[in-house]
Amino acid sequence: MEATLLQPFLEKKHDESRQGEAFAPFQEDPIPYKKHFYIESYGCQMNFADSEIVASILKEAGFGATRNIEIADLILLNTCSIREKAEQTVRKRLTEFKKLKKAKPSTLVGVLGCMAARLKSRFLEEEKLVDLVVGPDAYRTLPQLISEADGGQRSVNVLLSREETYADIAPVRLNSNGISGFVSIMRGCNNMCSFCVVPFTRGRERSRAPQSIYDECQDLFREGFKEVTLLGQNVDSYHWMPDLSIEEKTGITKDHYNRQPVNFAQLLEIVALISPELRVRFSTSHPKDITDAVLHTIARHENICKYIHLPLQSGSTRVLQLMNRSYTREWYMAKVERIRELIPECGISSDIIAGFCTETEEEHQDTLSMMSLAKFDLSYMFFYSERPGTLAQRRYEDDIPLAVKKRRLQEIVDLQGRLSHESNKRDLGKSFKVLIEGNSKKSDQQWMGRTSQNKVIVFPKNEQQLQPGDYAWVQVKECTQATLIGSIL
Ligand code: SAH
Ligand code: SF4
Ligand code: F3S
Repeated sequence: MEATLLQPFLEKKHDESRQGEAFAPFQEDPIPYKKHFYIESYGCQMNFADSEIVASILKEAGFGATRNIEIADLILLNTCSIREKAEQTVRKRLTEFKKLKKAKPSTLVGVLGCMAARLKSRFLEEEKLVDLVVGPDAYRTLPQLISEADGGQRSVNVLLSREETYADIAPVRLNSNGISGFVSIMRGCNNMCSFCVVPFTRGRERSRAPQSIYDECQDLFREGFKEVTLLGQNVDSYHWMPDLSIEEKTGITKDHYNRQPVNFAQLLEIVALISPELRVRFSTSHPKDITDAVLHTIARHENICKYIHLPLQSGSTRVLQLMNRSYTREWYMAKVERIRELIPECGISSDIIAGFCTETEEEHQDTLSMMSLAKFDLSYMFFYSERPGTLAQRRYEDDIPLAVKKRRLQEIVDLQGRLSHESNKRDLGKSFKVLIEGNSKKSDQQWMGRTSQNKVIVFPKNEQQLQPGDYAWVQVKECTQATLIGSIL
């Protein structure tokens, strides 16, 4: 899932905006550590959230985080396999580490995340400088694997789990502005979309206990955070079933929210009730699973953001069938209409894949017409990249020439540019409650924030002593394709 809160239009830009970011803790950690790790994260927000769990596990094991790769005793890459290009980026990065390793042979290099899960021990054969390969469900074993690797033994643990949710681990916030935090609510995916590698790299779907989600969100709010984004590959299938047999056997009463089944609509409400000052977002929804109950919950709470990322993938029913998405063009459109009926001011964004196996020119046109019908405010757009082991790779020929895929993608990108601009123009003159995130990129005389609909808005600072994390009412005066420009009311 790459439903980032950044708003790029091209895959290239998209990847640049998310990948290869190295992080150190937001605040300086006062503890003097003997050893340091450096971590770079690639791919979706869940991977970025996982890096914060890794940081927490490593901290317990005596490692401090550093932004300075030169002084690191342990270099980690948290990798993504979603498209071939994502894997190439990681390979390239690994070759860049060769010099570092030569200068300081004791430095350990570890590969985490989805590429680790996909390639397993093959990584050690292919990339000689890699010491550790650790899959997304095996991070608790990192300290042990590190000490094995310190002893000269290259180690692999890529076992996937049916239970692991890291519920008890308090993430060390690495990649945070101190205002919006990301909270994983589930792991894995059971959907088997034919193009997608995630079910193979992340394993079966499992939901995290609601009480631990609530506690983490509440802690964030107490620390001054004003926005939480609940993360999962398919949040609408969140489903918590309490195991009351433990309670019966032991007589120990579990926490309130862990005593009854909880679905996603209920979880959203539980988190929204922490405080009206705390904004709640979520990502990603699968069109087949988002329910009226979820839509009603969003409509009912002002602080649940009026924004839904609802990946379409293709506008052709035949292609959707090949993709194993289990909805038709008409069904998707009905869902969009239902969202607009129950939440009239809701922003809707999408993911789109150009040039899937056997896609005809006419079917590509169906995607374009669907985008216009649905009036997406924003889309993340990709050309199809065949992934080893997926259903599509086994069943269908990747038969659309690269040049055709790229041309179709460009048409999709151009159309989305126009749709985003039109969407922004519809906001001219309207006023929005904006959460201020910081200075605008261009000027420290201007604030940058987001509307509930997840649109970026910049506006001049005024005499009010506002700060990042404050809310302001802002009226839209101008706009570009990507940004609203306004002034404080
Ligand atoms: N779980 C989310 C998305 C996961 S991956 C969901 O179901 O919506 C994020 C996006 O990457 C997908 O929505 C899809 O548009 C794109 N993607 C996934 N596999 C791909 C592939 N093999 N080639 C090109 N794009 C792909
Ligand atoms: Fe991949 Fe489909 Fe699962 Fe999303 S829902 S992660 S696209 S298999
Ligand atoms: Fe995310 Fe990439 Fe894995 S999108 S789940 S890091 S394959």
